[in-house]
Amino acid sequence: MELLADTDRPPPGAEPDWTVPQRHNAYSDADHRVWVTLYDRQAEILPRRACDAFLHGLDALDLHGAGIPDFRPLNEKLGALTGWRVVAVPGLVPDAVFFHHLANRRFPAANFIRRPDQLDYLEEPDVFHDVFGHVPLLTDPVFADYMQAYGEGSLRALGFGRLPNLARLYWYTVEFGLMETPAGLRIYGAGIVSSRTESIFALESGSPHRVAFDLERVMRTPYRIDDFQQIYFVIPSLQGLLHATLEVDFAPLYAKLSGAPDFEIAALAPGDKIFSRGTQAYARGRVRQHA
Ligand SMILES: [Fe+2]
Repeated sequence: MELLADTDRPPPGAEPDWTVPQRHNAYSDADHRVWVTLYDRQAEILPRRACDAFLHGLDALDLHGAGIPDFRPLNEKLGALTGWRVVAVPGLVPDAVFFHHLANRRFPAANFIRRPDQLDYLEEPDVFHDVFGHVPLLTDPVFADYMQAYGEGSLRALGFGRLPNLARLYWYTVEFGLMETPAGLRIYGAGIVSSRTESIFALESGSPHRVAFDLERVMRTPYRIDDFQQIYFVIPSLQGLLHATLEVDFAPLYAKLSGAPDFEIAALAPGDKIFSRGTQAYARGRVRQHA
């Protein structure tokens, strides 16, 4: 999640909604080379790992080019497909600002890129994570609607005081989600597809749990930001994710959550439907309920 500055004031030079000019001409040759290096690394490993909607979006937006995309032509393509557009921000933005952008089909993307010695390290999301990781799926009409609905729902959640639960939903879907497909598990989360090491780890390591998506389970599961995930949640499809969230009345769910303990991050819970690792074949099982 594009977490979360703790001040409501935009920095000098930013608009009240925290947007700034991208200043595409200001990127150096070294900046563009970082983009191309990261892009090429991911392009090599994402076929048969990323979901089809992401790969189609990558093609549709032609994000390779000569380096960091210029948001103006990018927005012409994206807007024509789903009505979304990318807006530049200087970095982290406050919750309410972020959700307001999403609710209006605007994705805030950092306008800076990591240094050449930080290819596998990010202190906070940069333009590669935000654009390469997030924007291709915004070409998919179903996911585009999910992201808008998430923004709208989160604005309402501010009033319920349940934002930490909504942040977990974002984390385990938009950032670190996996999807079940007939060909095997596939990645759709931006935090995975923009990371070479986690793209491999998420699908192929024997270490993390992979559990079928369940809204309440996800919202009761904390996450860590300083290491690979210890649990990934698997959706049946983007349509299934949209239905699982749009068809829920969140007010009673929030009431239920307020009295429910969190799950251990690394532990399976009764009723979890689990998936084995692998990009081709997979097996499923279920964690037995305690008697
Ligand atoms: Fe992100």
